[in-house]
Amino acid sequence: MDFKREYQKALALVEGELHGAFADTMDGPHRELLEAMRYSLLAGGKRVRPVLTLKFCEALCGQMEPALDYACGVEMLHTYSLIHDDLPCMDDDELRRGKPTCHVKYGEWLALLAGDALQAAAFERLAMSKRTTLAANGKACAVLAEAAGQNGMCAGQYLDIKWERQEPPDGYGLEQIDAWKTGALLEAACLLGLTASPVESTQEQWEAARRYAQQLGLAFQIRDDMLDVESTEEELGKPIGSDVENGKNTYAAEYGLDRCRELVELLTERAKHSVRGAFERPEFLCALADSLATRKN
Ligand code: IPE
Ligand code: IPE
Ligand code: MG
Ligand code: MG
Ligand code: MG
Repeated sequence: MDFKREYQKALALVEGELHGAFADTMDGPHRELLEAMRYSLLAGGKRVRPVLTLKFCEALCGQMEPALDYACGVEMLHTYSLIHDDLPCMDDDELRRGKPTCHVKYGEWLALLAGDALQAAAFERLAMSKRTTLAANGKACAVLAEAAGQNGMCAGQYLDIKWERQEPPDGYGLEQIDAWKTGALLEAACLLGLTASPVESTQEQWEAARRYAQQLGLAFQIRDDMLDVESTEEELGKPIGSDVENGKNTYAAEYGLDRCRELVELLTERAKHSVRGAFERPEFLCALADSLATRKN
């Protein structure tokens, strides 16, 4: 298996589809809103979540295409979360994906709306997909809503900001913040892939995907925290030192970089173990976990 080639193939599918998004209404009086949405959406992220969606679908049925709308939806939802995460009332960051953040470029009220509209567009994309059955689309909407909402990403973002410059209360530590703010959406990305597949997953495969995503999600956020300390703005495409400046509770601040590296390695091994045996061809999913453990941006 040629990991880079496989990743590029999935990436090309997603990029092609995302480039068409919102393009048909660009001549309306709200053109600037659509421009702001496309500005952030097409700024060139890694597309980890949509690639996971496509590849989990492929792991079940041998094809990525059934999951293409779900993949676009999850990336739209993720992009909304980044736009809002960067706002002055949240992390107050000015660089994202190597470009000025949405609110720096378009102003706060427009960035807020661009995020709102991307979130709605994400659910629309899932609900209206013609590549999947209506029943699957309903389930996909429920999976994404659960991950994005009050018991998922929003809960994580709440704790992340609520506990800035404070110790989290006992029993609600870093792991909970990260599982919610980052793990939940990565989990949804994987489960959406299974939901899209015309070949149904077994309960065991569903649970294996969840475990993989939970471990990958925590490793992903720890790596993100490390990069905020040890990377450069040019390489990362976002500001360095933002977490320290905001007094965030991060693994890097709590345990230091060496311990973080060990934790990422351990979680990556566990993630790989979760999908081996549950899927016929887990090679790509394992290689992806490995590549994210040492990612540079
Ligand atoms: C950044 O996500 C926010 C986190 C959850 C850590 P990514 O690292 O996936 O950002 P992009 O999509 O590649 O820009
Ligand atoms: C963000 O975590 C998680 C989201 C839900 C967007 P961070 O605040 O650490 O993400 P970055 O570092 O700004 O990308
Ligand atoms: Mg944040
Ligand atoms: Mg942030
Ligand atoms: Mg971060």
